[in-house]
Amino acid sequence: MKILVVGGGGREHAIIKKIKENPNVTEIYALPGNGGIAADAVCVNIGAKDIPAIVAFAKEQKIDFAVVAPDDPLVLGAVDALQAEGIPCFGPEAKAAIIEGSKVFSKNLMKKYGIPTASYEVFTELDAALRYLETAPIPTVVKADGLALGKGVIIAQTREEAKAAVRSMMEDKQFGESGSRVVIEEFLTGPEVSVLAFTDGNVVRPMVSSMDHKRALDNDEGLNTGGMGTVAPNPYYTPEVAAECMEKIFLPTVKAMNAEGRTFRGCLYFGLMITPDGPKVIEYNCRFGDPETQVVLPLMESDLLDVMMATANGTLTDADVRFSERSACCVIVASKGYPVKYESGFPMELPKDSENGFIYVAGAKKDGEQLLSAGGRVLGVTAVADTLDLAIAKAYDRVQKVKFENGYYRSDIGARALQALKK
Ligand code: AMP
Ligand code: GLY
Repeated sequence: MKILVVGGGGREHAIIKKIKENPNVTEIYALPGNGGIAADAVCVNIGAKDIPAIVAFAKEQKIDFAVVAPDDPLVLGAVDALQAEGIPCFGPEAKAAIIEGSKVFSKNLMKKYGIPTASYEVFTELDAALRYLETAPIPTVVKADGLALGKGVIIAQTREEAKAAVRSMMEDKQFGESGSRVVIEEFLTGPEVSVLAFTDGNVVRPMVSSMDHKRALDNDEGLNTGGMGTVAPNPYYTPEVAAECMEKIFLPTVKAMNAEGRTFRGCLYFGLMITPDGPKVIEYNCRFGDPETQVVLPLMESDLLDVMMATANGTLTDADVRFSERSACCVIVASKGYPVKYESGFPMELPKDSENGFIYVAGAKKDGEQLLSAGGRVLGVTAVADTLDLAIAKAYDRVQKVKFENGYYRSDIGARALQALKK
């Protein structure tokens, strides 16, 4: 079978390595992939948002199954376009990807169907938003409606900060049209949990839970990033919490999307906060998380491609979706200066994968045989072990074996999870 994977980061590398385990796979193409992914797939220089070129390539190569991993092409309708040419795909159609593409849509969906989330107001006029902020409870959270590369969320500790955030989105158009509508919502507290779930619009098959570390520096200090590391499972996601989430969040979301005529088939990502009032949805994503995927898929015991195909053709209820009881830790190595300003082009030498250790390359290019860093997040160094503390120790042990002088990483990935386990 010929497989196409759209995207080119660490998440896509993890998906590709897992798909490769299926014995029926003969070729995997990554569009565009990257210099590290090139060790596991044929990388083709077609951008993940270039939908006409993606479709033309898939037809020409007679691709048997396509996986669209990033948010942008999903929201732009890559799956619709591939399916229109008869190419089976993993990923939601655009009308379902809107669950991530518009925060106004997802908030209104949750309100309409009684799915627990932070209370909120939507604004399309700057003046009305500023007036509301005169009396809104502080801290408050300001979110741009559309996709904003994970940067469209501001936690404002003061009224002035909140007003500045609204102005930068609505007046200065910091995120372009994504900020023409804003959501201002209640500030929630509690540990965060990421749950990725396969759904074919009928059943929901959650994967092992995980914990992201979004801030750039140790102790959750520094700027927000795309994610500096992950662990799985997340100790705050107890069996009781999981049961509550299934009943009050996961199934109601899938049913709500069906009722709206927007059946979601693919990986639905639930960003949850376990508040004193129970689990609430912080955000939905229409795709695998990055870097959650880099700890979730190494723990998957069943066949990823089979599950993806069952998800796409509506037979997920019969699929074998199994995860190991072990733990995983992924430490992201980023370019110094990320997420603000950084340089690329530094040579790297990476340890080889072992049975329980994997390196997922997020940003690299090849110069002959030499691998060079390219981008902000560069590597995801993952280890699997019987316990979380062993997985963390092994991941950091592997990080020491990476040669990349312009790299930096957090030294406390998983520390909070370990503390929670000890309580
Ligand atoms: P998002 O880009 O939606 O993932 O939001 C980024 C981060 O902002 C989340 O991971 C949370 O840590 C935080 N956040 C978002 N919404 C809220 C909220 N209503 N209350 C508290 N923190 C939030
Ligand atoms: N790790 C968060 C995300 O993928 O959006």
